[in-house]
Amino acid sequence: MPVRICFVCLGNICRSPTAEAAMRQLVEKADLSAHIEIDSAGTGAWHVGEPPDPRARSAAKRRGLEVQGRARKVVTEDFQHFDYIIAMDRTNLVELRRMAPSEEAEAKIELLRNFDPDSPDDAEVPDPYYGGGDGFDRVLDICEAACRGLLDHVRGRHGL
Ligand code: 4NP
Repeated sequence: MPVRICFVCLGNICRSPTAEAAMRQLVEKADLSAHIEIDSAGTGAWHVGEPPDPRARSAAKRRGLEVQGRARKVVTEDFQHFDYIIAMDRTNLVELRRMAPSEEAEAKIELLRNFDPDSPDDAEVPDPYYGGGDGFDRVLDICEAACRGLLDHVRGRHGL
């Protein structure tokens, strides 16, 4: 069975699809696509069905990354299906803990940046939605660094 990872933010149009794309590229480069499944979702429903934010897509494209998919909201089954549920910020984390149907499910939830050895404890991926400037580039930098750490963790833990 593959290891299954779901990245979660608020809208599922900026940060979590960016993390999903960054992780997918790392997994492909490591030739582990058959062993690691990646998805993303949001805790909020405002943007359900929408493609990722054009600002996230263009910032990623400049780095050769495709941010794809359609926004969806987290559902209870996600806590069963995924092995890792990765929150972008502490608000997402609290919301996910509230939604988790069991203690076993709760144990799957972690903050993305806690997988980055160079990041302070419990740091967040800042929400770029209302900001301007280089917010989306910063999200990419953060996601790429943390996803490297996450991939290392998953490989070690699952013998990949
Ligand atoms: P995301 O960004 O959680 O990274 O997808 C946001 C997208 C939409 C909103 C907030 C954050 N919003 O308030 O609509």
